[in-house]
Amino acid sequence: MSYHVNILNITFLINTAQNKIKKCNNIKKLELIKTYWIGKSGFFSKKNIILNKLIPYSNIIKNNIIKYASLKIKNIYLEKKEKLENKKIRSKISKDKIDVSLPGKKSELGTLHPISKIILYAENFFQSLGFSIILGNEIESSFYNFDALNVPKNHPSRTKKDTFWIDKNCLLRTQTSSVQIRVMQSQNPPLKIISSGRVYRNDHDKTHTPMFHQMEGLIIDYDVNLSNLKSILYNFCYYLLGENIKIRFRPTYFPFTQPSAEIDIMNQYGKWIEILGCGLVHPNVLNNININSNKYSGLAFGIGIERLAMLYYRLSDVRLLFMNNLSFLKQFK
Ligand code: DAH
Repeated sequence: MSYHVNILNITFLINTAQNKIKKCNNIKKLELIKTYWIGKSGFFSKKNIILNKLIPYSNIIKNNIIKYASLKIKNIYLEKKEKLENKKIRSKISKDKIDVSLPGKKSELGTLHPISKIILYAENFFQSLGFSIILGNEIESSFYNFDALNVPKNHPSRTKKDTFWIDKNCLLRTQTSSVQIRVMQSQNPPLKIISSGRVYRNDHDKTHTPMFHQMEGLIIDYDVNLSNLKSILYNFCYYLLGENIKIRFRPTYFPFTQPSAEIDIMNQYGKWIEILGCGLVHPNVLNNININSNKYSGLAFGIGIERLAMLYYRLSDVRLLFMNNLSFLKQFK
């Protein structure tokens, strides 16, 4: 018995395709169904030999039947496609919907970094004694960072091991002391300045970071002496850390001061922490910039801000300050 596709069967096939399309709820699957029925090599294509055999009409009629069926299925497909696409858009819109009645996101108030706070406290203190605030350069020449400060040519601090050199003559300043020279060059004594900012050294451990902050202080005047220096700095330490601190004033060597000293303060674990270097400005430094060292004398100091922060906030690892860890920083609100 031979089975021929007649117009009725064609209608049946179109209905079958239509049902499949109607049931489909997914655009990707819909494309597969379309390809199966009316794709280039699909069921209703001239390439389908079985279908060709089944239609017992002339080629013209056969082609018309295929065209008719294909068009019909294509329309059903397009209609469904539009529906599915609209549905997708609608669900996206409903998901992205903004509920204006919901409470807004709370924006938190920022605070100053603990290092900035210590700098501000220190500036307050020194301004109250009549010091003015000066800005310095972070990129310096070896003249301002070393030569003019009486640092010998073979001093280890000049090596690549300690200093970040940009080229032969240019470096990231290793100390704010370079500001002393710039101020003495540009202003006439008497001078009374502080200058704080970043300095850079090739060092990294629990108590050192390659970038840290210093505050430089300089007084140039008649008859400046060691007891002036000691009383200013002791008062500063008491002001910032309280009067009960254990403090010591220890002689040391710096090329740019004579005599030179360091101040240590005892931390919460009973350990001495060095917080600053200081001294009377070396006559060579004054002479280097044509200040008459017989007429004027000077005192200078360089405070390690991170060290003060560690004592003030009782920190055991200085690196915590630069990790940008919000839960750590929020403690200092
Ligand atoms: N510049 C020194 C340092 O970074 C600190 C210092 C010592 C600064 C003595 C001074 C000073 O002004 O007089 O270690």
